[in-house]
Amino acid sequence: MPITAIAELTYAVEDVEKCVRFLEDFGLSKLKSGSDHAVFEVLSGQRVSLYRLGDQRLPQSEIVGPGVHECVWALASQADLDGLVGDLSRDHALVTDDSGTVHFVTSFGQAIGLRVFQPRPVVCSPSPTNAPGIVNRLNMPRKWLSRAVPKTISHAVWGFLDVNEAFDFYHDRLGFRLTDVQKGVGLYIRAGRSTNHHNIMLADADVTLFGFSGKFEFHHANFGVEDIDEIMAGKNYLQRQGYEDNGWGFGRHRVSSELFLYMPSPTGGEVEYGADCDQVNEQWRPRIWGASFAAFTFVHDMPQWLKEREPEWDVSYATPETSRHVPVKH
Ligand SMILES: [Fe+2]
Repeated sequence: MPITAIAELTYAVEDVEKCVRFLEDFGLSKLKSGSDHAVFEVLSGQRVSLYRLGDQRLPQSEIVGPGVHECVWALASQADLDGLVGDLSRDHALVTDDSGTVHFVTSFGQAIGLRVFQPRPVVCSPSPTNAPGIVNRLNMPRKWLSRAVPKTISHAVWGFLDVNEAFDFYHDRLGFRLTDVQKGVGLYIRAGRSTNHHNIMLADADVTLFGFSGKFEFHHANFGVEDIDEIMAGKNYLQRQGYEDNGWGFGRHRVSSELFLYMPSPTGGEVEYGADCDQVNEQWRPRIWGASFAAFTFVHDMPQWLKEREPEWDVSYATPETSRHVPVKH
C-alpha cells in the first residue's frame, strides 16, 4: 500500500502569532504567516500549517482542544492516490481541494488528507563518533551547531478512544503496518512505503502516565534532526528564548531506539526533536513490550515512577493474538 510519509500537519491553535514565534525558534522555515494562518516547512518540504481554533478552513473532526486536527499523508504518484481514493470513496465522503489534496473524516472522527507529494531528499552528515579502539574522527573536531534545523516530520501521536478501531482503519484501508506493541499504551505503526519505526503511535487516550487525558486529543509530533548535538543545540537555543522541556530532558526510547527531547508547545501538545530512529522493512517482526521497559533506555531527568524501581525486562515477539491493544482496567 502506497503511503510514504507525512506530507503536512494542520494545527488548530489558540494564538497563531505566539505559535509562529515558537516554531521559528524550534527551527522550522516559515513560508508565510498572518494573524490567523501560517505555514512552515522542514528541509524535506513536509509542512506544518496553523489556523486559529474554530477557523472555518479547518477540517471538521472530533479531536478535542488545540493540536494537529488533520494529518495529510503523502503518495508518490497520482495513480497511487487514485487507487486509495477509489477504495475509500465506497464509504467515505471525500472532498478534493484546489491543490488536489483529498480530505475525509474517519468513522472514529479523525480528519485525514491524502496528497501527491514527494519529499525532497535530505542526506545528513553527522559527525563521526570515536570510541576506545576505533578512530572515526582523526584531526577533526565535531561540528559546532548553534541551532536545530529539523529535516523531516517523522511521526505524530494522538490519544484514541478505541485504539483497535483506529488500527483496523489504518491497517485495512490505508495499508499501515504494525511495528511494535506497548502493553496498555498503544500501537506503533508505519506507512506501507516507510521504513521509519513509526509514522503514528496510536495511543490509548486513558493512559495518564504519558500525559493523556481520556479525550480524543493530539499528543505530540516528532521532527527528525541529525544527532545528539543538533538535539541539544536546539534545546539550548529554545531555553535561551525562555522555553523549557517537558521535564524528562534528553533521553533515548528503548522501543524505536530513538533519541528524544520533548518541548511543550503553544500549538497544543508537545514537539519532539528526534534522531537515530530504528528503520525497519518487511523482514521486521513486531514485538510486544512492557510499557515502562519500552519507554526509556535512558533519560536525563527520570520521572518519579522510574526512580522507584527499574522496569523489569519485558519484550518478546508479538503473536497474532498479542498484536492488538489491550486497555488497562482502571
Ligand atoms: Fe514521539
